[in-house]
Amino acid sequence: MSAIYAAGLCCPLLAPLSIFSMVATTPSCLIEPPTGPLQIAPLAADTTPLAFSLIIPTYNERRNIAAIVDQLTRLLEGTIPGSYELIVVDDNSPDLTWEAALALGNTYPQLRVMRRVEERGLSSAVIRGWQGARGEILGVIDADLQHPPEVLLKLLAAVQADADLAVASRHVEGGGVSEWSFIRRLLSRGAQTLGLLILPKVVGRVSDPMSGYFLVRRSAIASAPLYPKGYKILLEVIGRGHLDTIAEVGYVFQERLEGESKVTWRQYIDYLHHLICLRFKGRITPTDKPAPLGRFLRFGLVGFSGLFVDYATFFLLFEQLGLGLTTSTVLSGELAIGNNFLWNDAWTFADLAQQQKGWPARLKRFLKFNLICLAGLTLNTLIVNLLFNLLGFNPYLAKFIAIATVTLWNFWVNLKLSWRVTDTPEV
Ligand code: GDD
Ligand code: MN
Repeated sequence: MSAIYAAGLCCPLLAPLSIFSMVATTPSCLIEPPTGPLQIAPLAADTTPLAFSLIIPTYNERRNIAAIVDQLTRLLEGTIPGSYELIVVDDNSPDLTWEAALALGNTYPQLRVMRRVEERGLSSAVIRGWQGARGEILGVIDADLQHPPEVLLKLLAAVQADADLAVASRHVEGGGVSEWSFIRRLLSRGAQTLGLLILPKVVGRVSDPMSGYFLVRRSAIASAPLYPKGYKILLEVIGRGHLDTIAEVGYVFQERLEGESKVTWRQYIDYLHHLICLRFKGRITPTDKPAPLGRFLRFGLVGFSGLFVDYATFFLLFEQLGLGLTTSTVLSGELAIGNNFLWNDAWTFADLAQQQKGWPARLKRFLKFNLICLAGLTLNTLIVNLLFNLLGFNPYLAKFIAIATVTLWNFWVNLKLSWRVTDTPEV
């Protein structure tokens, strides 16, 4: 270990104290998690700014933390010695990552550790870290070494040159993924395509909107309230920041060698929720309830029942009564929509329907439901065409992705529009 790390305690002022009192004191590299709104302040006049603060969010990364801190320190000491900080933001990991990080404080004076007990979640961890940071440039990197540390210097150089945001991307030259399965690639690309459809102005600004490895100028995001959801904090930064210039640097997403990924299918639901909130409400409020999974399952089941109504009526009208193809399709489709509406109103969204009683309100919900389902049908056709004709997907796979996407779409838009309980008007 070179001399730069031999400084010992992270805060030299406290060193004499600990010699006399051997009682457990709070390690000086431990920082309190900020509370209140998730909003980055401009640098206070009385703080000495640093060039760069890098957040390392962690959850059960005990086995990775020493290696990543060491590699990042070496790189940054060689470029901007002493004028950066690494902030580990740990959500009270059961494997005690925060403790392991604190123990590194003696060796790496630029390291600080935030242990969160009250809040959880990747995106808010990153923002809390930035709120406690002193850098002019703010960044984030995964702790598990899946983001190659050496790319950091290129990102830093881009922001130091003129970029407001520099994103490490898997989808530009020099980028890629190592050994991803077809399904994982598909999900990743599918999520991006969906993002492009729902929120083109945000998602379309970068080639890898899912990236969790990026640097942003503090001034570009300061004072904008942030309402992130799930994993994809970059969406929030692009959606709310004031970014003129965006740079991208290619990187290969490495395989995880230690520990486990925390991604579950829940993250995909959160992602969609995030997109729709950014699109329709312009924000996600911190009081928003978590993605209502039970409701979604009920909605899926109702949709499935509609399929039977559709087929059975079609058979009756077309085969038995000899009506024309179009007439039979339209009538059976409409009957299925009616079936789905009744079940959704009485079951899936019963609690919301209760708050908007009366026939006029019910009719309004039915009309909105109808319109949204029709829009869903158009979306379905668009997606199948896009995947099959433009991207050369297998037609059944294309159809499957389209149905899955449209189900999600129908669910969220109906939840947010058809069954939305309108607030009492302000007086
Ligand atoms: N503090 C905190 N709280 N950290 C968390 C939490 C949490 O709830 N969940 C995950 N993390 C940390 C992990 O410890 C890791 O350092 C980082 O966030 C990424 O989590 P992984 O679970 O390793 O995610 P991944 O590798 O599957 O997913 C990554 O996918 C993108 C590319 O598709 C994302 O993390 C992105 O950063 C990445 O670019
Ligand atoms: Mn990972």
